[in-house]
Amino acid sequence: MRGYDDVFTESVADREAFWLEAAKALDWHRAPSQALDDTERPFYRWFPDGELNVAYNALDRHVAAGRGEQAALSYDSPVTGTRRTYTYAELTNEVALFAGVLRDLGVGVGDRVVVYLPMVPEAVIAMLACARLGAVHSVVFGGFAANELALRIEDALPKVVVSASCGIEGSRVIEYKPLLDRAIGLSAHKPGKRVILQRPEAEAAMGPDDVDWADAVASAVPADPVPVKSTDPLYVLYTSGTTGKPKGVVRDCGGYATALAWSMPNVYDVGPGQTIFTASDVGWVVGHSYIVYAPLLVGATTVLYEGKPVGTPDAGQFWRVCAEYGVRSLFTAPTAFRALKKEDPRGEYTRGYDLSGLKYLFLAGERLDPETYHWATELLGIPVIDHWWQTETGWPIVANPVGIELVPIKPGSPTKPLPGWDVQVLGANGVPMPAGEDGAIVIKLPLPPGAFRTLWNDDERFVESYLSAFDGYYLTGDGGRIDEDGYVFVMGRTDDVINVAGHRLSTGSMEEVLAAHPDVAECAVIGVADALKGQVPRGFVVLKAGIDATAEGYAAGLRGELVRMVRDQVGAVASLKEVAVVPALPKTRSGKILRKTMRGIADGLDEPVPSTIEDASVLDTLRTVLRGDR
Ligand code: COA
Ligand code: AMP
Repeated sequence: MRGYDDVFTESVADREAFWLEAAKALDWHRAPSQALDDTERPFYRWFPDGELNVAYNALDRHVAAGRGEQAALSYDSPVTGTRRTYTYAELTNEVALFAGVLRDLGVGVGDRVVVYLPMVPEAVIAMLACARLGAVHSVVFGGFAANELALRIEDALPKVVVSASCGIEGSRVIEYKPLLDRAIGLSAHKPGKRVILQRPEAEAAMGPDDVDWADAVASAVPADPVPVKSTDPLYVLYTSGTTGKPKGVVRDCGGYATALAWSMPNVYDVGPGQTIFTASDVGWVVGHSYIVYAPLLVGATTVLYEGKPVGTPDAGQFWRVCAEYGVRSLFTAPTAFRALKKEDPRGEYTRGYDLSGLKYLFLAGERLDPETYHWATELLGIPVIDHWWQTETGWPIVANPVGIELVPIKPGSPTKPLPGWDVQVLGANGVPMPAGEDGAIVIKLPLPPGAFRTLWNDDERFVESYLSAFDGYYLTGDGGRIDEDGYVFVMGRTDDVINVAGHRLSTGSMEEVLAAHPDVAECAVIGVADALKGQVPRGFVVLKAGIDATAEGYAAGLRGELVRMVRDQVGAVASLKEVAVVPALPKTRSGKILRKTMRGIADGLDEPVPSTIEDASVLDTLRTVLRGDR
């Protein structure tokens, strides 16, 4: 039996052969003769002469191979009391019909379609329908507010937007249509038509440019899959960078499908006919890769769950779903397990559910703290697999490849690099750090298939943000170390990106909102540790001269306004609840805000006072504010 070391060594010894072999898991319209094209470095291309259709690979070919009656997608929505399973034949049919709708609205190869939908099957259908036409979807997470949606519409310039009348958050109905209308109002680009899924929980008022999903599908003619180049974009997924402007991560077709198809048996140990339950959201990369594309590419069954791990109706829903659908691998974020632990510390809600089919728990999206790791391991008695990746990479960089071999687990480490990822740790001077010492985690170029090609319409920002810090390396933005056994430890972001309940957010976008308040002279937002959500944002504002913060009720009123502004403009998901008024922010003599120092103080570290600081006494005030909260 080949073990992890053998497979990793093979991937390094003959990269071409390794990935061409992996590509054989797909049905190509034109099979690739070459794996990597590095002629336009640093813009690498995978399978340059290959042609395929990703939706065909995810659907039709399984029907053709006799799996038409097998479950492809099981939608389970405790918040609406709905369950529905689509077989491969049914899902193929629905996708072909919706592709027909989009085609009638003028969508063709390369056109963008923004998808702003809650966790309903139509989200998966819309994504696959775009892929079927060779169009490029851009899914926007439902927890983002109108302003964030507008930014994405303006950048992606979609021909059509697909949305719904509402989403459901616990017992609350969140109307999406007014948000969409506001976003389109804000955006300089006006998409032609909006297809709206009417949900019974809230009927949306329709305008002249709105098309009702059900009506359109009723009269649609199914569309066939359109073969496209392997290197053509499959989707653009916006993610938070360090500034308020989101980054449009561009994913190709052939490289991505190959990497995902490789990862399913080797990392997640899920194959045809087996079930994976990824409790995330289609708006995040985890949802794109492991709710939608990867399970379907390998002929597995995917569970689409609309709800939270706790709350409506209780903390037993994950266990019910695992038992009911025979889930083999469960994948979610550590936060979900922290929420379960808080609600049900003794795991009483697992009682009565047959979890014997559940073989692994996969966790990613944020650091897995050892306490949560141990709790989950004891609760379930199965391997708990921490793994590390990013929107940019599309699939795991570092993981325990249980489908090949269960490598001994070291709590706190997502284990070892997967084939294709040459992970290194560098010091500020670009010199490799000795084993066990912290530095910037980087990946030597080229990145493997599946990783992003560039940023949408912004090659320059791609190079500047990711490739310019260390020549020949991709800067992950995470800091950490590699120990003497080759285990990678990811300790956290080194930039202004934060991770709130497994949701990646930019402190920069929140700062832009705070700075727009007429009383605010300057501000900073940093991520502070939170027992449930891992991190939560915390704002600090300095007021304009002449404003009396001590006036009765002023500070509380201002805080309320600022919190509301961030909720309205970035979204509820930002979870900014605390804003403190401070007399000054710590800065360097050249005026740069010392965010790292602020983060250190917030985390209770004994941060050394930077030699570049303009006025060290500012730190004392900050310590007092933060200590007052603890
Ligand atoms: N549409 C509209 N609003 C949304 C939303 C969506 N799709 N997703 C979240 N929100 C809202 C929530 O309702 C909440 O609003 P509130 O402040 O009015 O209560 C706010 O955004 C913050 O959401 P969240 O951070 O998710 O907190 P929560 O208290 O609702 O739930 C957890 C906490 C831990 C249960 C939840 O975050 C969870 O299940 N996380 C799993 C992690 C995950 O899926 N990560 C994705 C990457 S793997
Ligand atoms: P996203 O792009 O939303 O997937 O977020 C990616 C970021 O989440 C990474 O850069 C890390 O900071 C963090 N992250 C994801 N998985 C892990 C993990 N297993 N351990 C530590 N951090 C993680």
